[in-house]
Amino acid sequence: MSQRTKEMLAKMSRKQKVFQLEQLTTATYLTKGGKYHIITGPNSPIKFDKGMVYDVGTSLNLVGAETMIDAQTNYLKNSKYKNPLMIMQDVIHGHRTIYPINLAVASSFDRGLAKDLASMAAKEASLDGMSVTFAPMVDLVRDPRWGRVMESSGEDPYLNGEMAKATVQGYQGDMGKYNIAGCVKHFAAYGAAEAGRDYNTVDISERNLREYYLPAYKAAVDAGVKMVMTAFNIVDGVPCVGNEHLVRDILRGEWGYNGVVISDHGAFDELITHGVCENRKEAAYLAMRAGCDIEMMSSCYGLHLEELIDEGKITEEQLDKAVLRILDLKEELGVLDNPYRSVNVEEAKRVQLCPEHRALARKGAEDSAVLLKNDGVLPLDKNAGDVCVIGPLGNTGYIIGGWHCGGKETEAVSVLDGLKNKLGYDVKYAQGCQIEYDSVDESMFDEACQLAKNSKSVVLCLGEHQDYSGEGYCRTDINLPEIQYKLLDKILEVNKNVVVVLFTGRPLSIGRLDKVAPAILNMWMPGTEGGNACANLLFGDAVPSGKLTMTFPRNLGQVPIYYNHYTTGRPKALEDDDRFVRFTSCYIDVQNSPLYPFGYGLSYTDFVYSDFKLSNNEMKAEDKLVASCKIKNVGKYKAKEVVQFYIRDVKGTCVRPVKELKGFEKIELDVGEEKVVSFEITEETLKYWNRDLKYVAEKGDFEVFIGKDSDCKSFAKFKLV
Ligand code: NOJ
Repeated sequence: MSQRTKEMLAKMSRKQKVFQLEQLTTATYLTKGGKYHIITGPNSPIKFDKGMVYDVGTSLNLVGAETMIDAQTNYLKNSKYKNPLMIMQDVIHGHRTIYPINLAVASSFDRGLAKDLASMAAKEASLDGMSVTFAPMVDLVRDPRWGRVMESSGEDPYLNGEMAKATVQGYQGDMGKYNIAGCVKHFAAYGAAEAGRDYNTVDISERNLREYYLPAYKAAVDAGVKMVMTAFNIVDGVPCVGNEHLVRDILRGEWGYNGVVISDHGAFDELITHGVCENRKEAAYLAMRAGCDIEMMSSCYGLHLEELIDEGKITEEQLDKAVLRILDLKEELGVLDNPYRSVNVEEAKRVQLCPEHRALARKGAEDSAVLLKNDGVLPLDKNAGDVCVIGPLGNTGYIIGGWHCGGKETEAVSVLDGLKNKLGYDVKYAQGCQIEYDSVDESMFDEACQLAKNSKSVVLCLGEHQDYSGEGYCRTDINLPEIQYKLLDKILEVNKNVVVVLFTGRPLSIGRLDKVAPAILNMWMPGTEGGNACANLLFGDAVPSGKLTMTFPRNLGQVPIYYNHYTTGRPKALEDDDRFVRFTSCYIDVQNSPLYPFGYGLSYTDFVYSDFKLSNNEMKAEDKLVASCKIKNVGKYKAKEVVQFYIRDVKGTCVRPVKELKGFEKIELDVGEEKVVSFEITEETLKYWNRDLKYVAEKGDFEVFIGKDSDCKSFAKFKLV
């Protein structure tokens, strides 16, 4: 709390204080085309008069340096109090230069890369006058039907935490001119929505919440994130924005977080729709009591907080604390000194989408692509003959991914253009089929087959439309559409040299594709430079090194399927044996193992793991053990490898996961080169929420694993004594 903001507060009327807690769209303040609210959800219009609108403290979502200047100028002109807007934006995976979706960036397992990408986005956004981004989204997720998996970093709490930290550091840096504040979201457990349906019920135990879902938000808080957004969903029957246990007790109490808490869009009004309060006044009461500072896109505080203070239900002190947190952030960001912050029309034009930013986005796409299958077709040989591109996702910029902020599909490089850039000849293209999941139109098959027949190899671009994932875009069928399989079968009849390049915002259930496609390269949604990155990967100028951050199921019936599950009282002995064994925990029609496990991804080279070591087989609480192994590149390509370190707590007072990721390191090895990679084990590594809901390491046996994916076998045991 600074002296300056305290003095400001002392001079504010109660109404002005209350309106610091309100947030409307930035477009509201435009001189042209203003009064423009995109209200999502079931909320009714915001009933603010003009005076109130020009007292609002913060605004959201509008890209562009000139529009920002216009909105802020107009706001200040009309506002009596003239406390500048703090402007926020969903800068999710890039601002103007779009890098791969977050699920992909996490697949790089590269903390440095995640940080650099976020820092690039922050720079571009700051030049448009942004102060805060509503990111990182760190919701742990196990259900690929949920459209928002694309924004997450997947199913593992440790990886989510590492990505959260790196991303927060990238956005916030030293909170300088080119940085913006991060806002970790959606607190909490939004990713556990039942049946993968957005905004749906979340009902999980306190233990599950703490063990799996909370660590990543905490990692962001520990990394100094400036803002936290509450989730739409309920946890234990209470919507998160009004959930005192989550916000007041855990976030502020246990974790000592003293920054700003913001609701999600319209979530105050949704307290009424959820059925936990009768009206907006009660909604304001519940949210303030829980500890939520900013109300995004509804008007409960604005219209009712003063009344609640008069009635003694909310104290002036509660209001003051919330306002001070907001003013302090404004001050820290420099908004109080310069309402336009780092906005710079000319510099924004120079920096956004500049060659260096494109190069970083390209590196991001290369390092996060996952090679799922390769029967030897890849890498392609530039001199072996004509390559053609086929498929509904081959000649389009609609591969940048949802939530692309100021990014434009027209500024993105398609696979076709990427191949033309690389090969220097006029690569031929045929669409083959439509992208819509229910299309049955086979009229383009003949043209595609003719082209495939006349080419040496085929790059077949299949997958999902970019608008099939993201907020509100959930699916019950996560296989490829039948029309795409039919196209693939037809093409394989005339040419066996087919590489399927997959575009997707979620794990897909593609057992059928895995059976027939000679090679599958998963590009996820790769962003602005997707096509160039893809061309580099296809021809071996970049070597795939991404590893899956979410399990790919054999079929949808296995979902939720994740590597770090608990054992059962009747586990199936041979997990990947497809024989049905009655009275064990399994299905009669499919084995338990997934199609591709967490951490999985192939390379063009081969890595050999050897010399596994554990420094001791006994450990006291104050000791440190070191687990290590040697990795050698025995193949033909210089390449990167993600070395993964897992632990299993063999027995606890509560059941423990069969394996938990506790460390990873991404290394690069030249042909023939080898390296020893080590991981440290301390008491902290072994802690979990035990039977008494205490975060402790319990004595007993632990198994240790190092390997290339979550299927690796344990090589040593130790005892915590
Ligand atoms: C709703 C989304 O849930 C949230 O992630 C986003 O930041 C806000 N809308 C603002 O656009």
